[in-house]
Amino acid sequence: MASTLIFFTVCSFLVAVGRSQSGDAAVMQELKKTVNAPSQLGWTDPDPCKWKSVTCSRDNRVIKIQIRQQNLQGSLPPSLGKLTSLQILELQNNQLSGALPSLAGLNSLKTLSINNNNFTSVPPDFFDGMTSLQEVSMDYNPFSTWQIPAGLKSASALQKFSATSANISGLFPDFFGAETFSSLSNLHLAFNNIEGPLPASLAGSSIQSLWLNGQTVGMNGSISVLQNMTQLTQIWLHKNDFSGPLPDFTGLIQLQDLSLRQNSFTGPVPDSLVGLATLATVNLTTNKLQGKTPKFSGSVKVDMSPGSNSFCLPDPGVECDSRVNALVDVAKDFGYPATFADNWKGNDPCVSWKGITCSPKNITVVNFRGMALSGTISPSFAQLTSVQRLVLSNNNLTGTIPNELTTLPNLVELDISNNQIYGKVPQFKTGVDVKTAGNVHIGKDGPPPGAGGKGNSDGSGPGSGSGKKSSTGVVVGSVVGGLCILAFAGALVFCVYRGKRKRSGRVQSPHTTVIHPRLSGSDDAVKITIAGSSANGGGTGETYSHGSSGPSDIHIVEAGNMVISIQVLRNVTDNFSERNILGKGGFGTVYKGELHDGTKIAVKRMESGVISENGLEEFRSEIAVLTKVRHRHLVALLGYCLDGNERLLVFEYMPQGTLSRFLFSWKDEGLQPLEWMKRLTIALDVARGVEYLHGLAQQSFIHRDLKPSNILLGDDMRAKVADFGLVRLAPDGKASIATKLAGTFGYLAPEYAVTGRVSTKIDVFSFGVILMEIITGRKALDESFPDDRQHLVPWFRRMLINKDTFRKAIDQTIEVTEETFGSICTVGELAGHCSAREPYQRPDMGHVVNVLSSLAELWKPSEPADPDDMYGIDYDMTLPQVLKKWQALEGMSLIDGDATSSSYLGSNDNTQTSIPIRPSGFADSFTSADGR
Ligand SMILES: *[C@@H]1O[C@H](CO)[C@@H](O)[C@H](O)[C@H]1NC(C)=O
Ligand SMILES: *[C@@H]1O[C@H](CO)[C@@H](O)[C@H](O)[C@H]1NC(C)=O
Ligand SMILES: *[C@@H]1O[C@H](CO)[C@@H](O)[C@H](O)[C@H]1NC(C)=O
Ligand SMILES: *[C@@H]1O[C@H](CO)[C@@H](O)[C@H](O)[C@H]1NC(C)=O
Ligand SMILES: *[C@@H]1O[C@H](CO)[C@@H](O)[C@H](O)[C@H]1NC(C)=O
Ligand SMILES: *[C@@H]1O[C@H](CO)[C@@H](O)[C@H](O)[C@H]1NC(C)=O
Repeated sequence: MASTLIFFTVCSFLVAVGRSQSGDAAVMQELKKTVNAPSQLGWTDPDPCKWKSVTCSRDNRVIKIQIRQQNLQGSLPPSLGKLTSLQILELQNNQLSGALPSLAGLNSLKTLSINNNNFTSVPPDFFDGMTSLQEVSMDYNPFSTWQIPAGLKSASALQKFSATSANISGLFPDFFGAETFSSLSNLHLAFNNIEGPLPASLAGSSIQSLWLNGQTVGMNGSISVLQNMTQLTQIWLHKNDFSGPLPDFTGLIQLQDLSLRQNSFTGPVPDSLVGLATLATVNLTTNKLQGKTPKFSGSVKVDMSPGSNSFCLPDPGVECDSRVNALVDVAKDFGYPATFADNWKGNDPCVSWKGITCSPKNITVVNFRGMALSGTISPSFAQLTSVQRLVLSNNNLTGTIPNELTTLPNLVELDISNNQIYGKVPQFKTGVDVKTAGNVHIGKDGPPPGAGGKGNSDGSGPGSGSGKKSSTGVVVGSVVGGLCILAFAGALVFCVYRGKRKRSGRVQSPHTTVIHPRLSGSDDAVKITIAGSSANGGGTGETYSHGSSGPSDIHIVEAGNMVISIQVLRNVTDNFSERNILGKGGFGTVYKGELHDGTKIAVKRMESGVISENGLEEFRSEIAVLTKVRHRHLVALLGYCLDGNERLLVFEYMPQGTLSRFLFSWKDEGLQPLEWMKRLTIALDVARGVEYLHGLAQQSFIHRDLKPSNILLGDDMRAKVADFGLVRLAPDGKASIATKLAGTFGYLAPEYAVTGRVSTKIDVFSFGVILMEIITGRKALDESFPDDRQHLVPWFRRMLINKDTFRKAIDQTIEVTEETFGSICTVGELAGHCSAREPYQRPDMGHVVNVLSSLAELWKPSEPADPDDMYGIDYDMTLPQVLKKWQALEGMSLIDGDATSSSYLGSNDNTQTSIPIRPSGFADSFTSADGR
């Protein structure tokens, strides 16, 4: 009612003044009101067409409103969208606020400038129908978050779109290419929250000036599309997270201003950029660019702080060492991965470059195993003529093996197993061990067929022909002749293909077993072997048969419950008798236990207070995680017990006890001191275990308390790391973690001791100290020495200064021959390197493993084949890799993409415990194959 009244009032007013019949005047009056037009604006005449800064057409339609910089403080009326003849709206540099009204349908509007105001939101239909729009400036407004609406697409004549610092979110729109906007020359969207990559639709675009710098999260991905944006004169992409190599700039013949600083670009600066004649400014600081430092012409303003990239040398234009060039070439075919760009610094690959081992200045081992590499194998590997071992296994490489590799004169091993390599294997000279297992299409011509193909149908692979799918889609059998994982909704189930060697079926975990109802109800032709207690007679366990036909020699070992009753543990430890104490540590006392069948276990009884009181669930879930961590060189957690205040953990038993016994108290305990070769092997075992832990991604698997008393030995004197992850069980009182639990003085990395900051590099530091102890037979901290020698690390460093002093530091019990001395020196240097003061100066464990394994191999060229490998279990693989391998071999989609937090079978023939059981509670990490 009221609005009708107002409408009539306004109409009669307009008629009264005898002006235009159009509504434009009314809208203008409203605008005058809402912007609180001050007198200096000169909007006093009853006829808005006579107002300053307003222009009307001959028929009195408003075509321009140009009131910039007038200190206006109001808002815009919703009726503004009715000025359908409006061509220019300039409101910039005021303090106008409130929501922008929809201007949908202003099909004459060419210029819209509302930048530098205080507008609070953009309606989704704002641009709809603005078919004449050419220039938009809406920068610097405190909009609530919005996305550039697809309605803008109707503005096919758009030339400039500028909305810097306008709180735009979402992906970069897919419609800024030439197909939609053939005249767009400026696209300025700096300082927003735009995410994701540059879309391929930008190829061929007419954009000349592109600003995308300073997105909050950072746009990411490759910028290769720029090479097809040949109109560009100005490119600002700084302060984002773009990555990969710089594109070819050959076509960008008008480029003047290129700002790429503060991204994650890798690879060399292309000559096509360095030689670009039009270039005036180039900013490259803070990336991961590799190869030689580019030398731009003197007229180019260059922003490239020394040391802020991964160039080989700081001096522009100076060539890198040929080994560096070869390795950067090699990285090219992997897409210049960031892991290399981060780690390969300087001009000497023999200074602990990731994956590179030298002897002493020739690259002898390239080990890129399990680095998540994709792409192809570079022919440039052939430039590394001193390489003996080239290990590329457990990646996602495709393509073929380049023929050039056959020219490597010193090659003895090429390992490409577990990739997607296809094609013929070139003829290597005799004596070269070429490992190709786990490449489904190796030996066949042409690239692998598209996804979904089954990889196991032709009989060329090892153990082929055993993989089949049962009627409900449950995959049974295994091409690797070993194991596969099935997951049902409630429990993790393992199946073991019986066709190959039979496992010694000792099953001694006192587990209860649940058969999933799903199984008993189905007609799956499977047998189930229950990991029962030793009461089953110590045989292969009971077997249940379901169904009648099909691949009946499949066993499924159902996951038992990891919970072990306190009664069982009391029994096996003789009621925690003193006599059974194996040791005491920060977390409690460890007892030896013996099951009925003679199998020994270690039971850790946690001290009360060590484990957080609150949250049994937390404890359980931590345990669930720890049980999933399985590796040949990590002491396995077999079960646990929660009873009242009791918290007990059951581990595999390591008969020879701790490394510290053998290093520091061998005399008192009547042991033989360790020979150098044994020490070296132990160091390598530990390094492999820790490398694996670190490879489990999250921070959670930083050990934090590596020391010889946490390194346990089997009867074969091979080592396993104990107590990993236990610190996570501790309560959250940080101080107590830092001081009491996590870490032991003498082994603490300085940054950890001072700030409590945790990274994998604190373990590397501790490992360095352990190496020093292995070499010297001295404890990290020994108060029986004079003050200046109590601390092993500084003393060791002083002794390392020259060979004569170093020789004196070596444990007297080691027989030092010329041969061993070289090996000890290398380990000594490695120890110093690992214990470097600054975390970034320390190598990662992968490098440590490379160094130690190349030394160990000199002594023992061929390790005996690991029995487990026959089953296709590879302890050195991470779980996702294992799953991927099985998946690839089976051509199946059993496991969903993210299985990183799951477990795989880890039984171990080397030790007394050999328990083919797996804990329950992983089910959520797996997708049942028939859960389609
Ligand atoms: C802009 O709006 C905010 C709140 O929305 C207000 O605090 C600020 O004073 C305004 N600025 C101007 C110049 O009007
Ligand atoms: C962007 O919008 C969100 C919510 O819409 C708001 O919380 C935030 O403060 C805005 N950011 C800026 C820089 O204005
Ligand atoms: C991009 O440019 C390259 C050459 O620089 C050309 O080979 C390719 O076809 C172009 N792609 C598109 C989509 O224009
Ligand atoms: C690029 O670097 C130059 C020189 O340091 C500097 O003057 C210029 O402002 C920078 N340009 C951008 C877009 O950051
Ligand atoms: C390094 O390699 C070159 C060429 O392969 C060889 O001539 C030289 O003897 C090697 N040096 C060492 C120390 O192995
Ligand atoms: C491996 O590479 C293929 C393409 O070559 C890709 O589709 C797949 O996602 C990659 N897998 C992993 C685990 O990176």
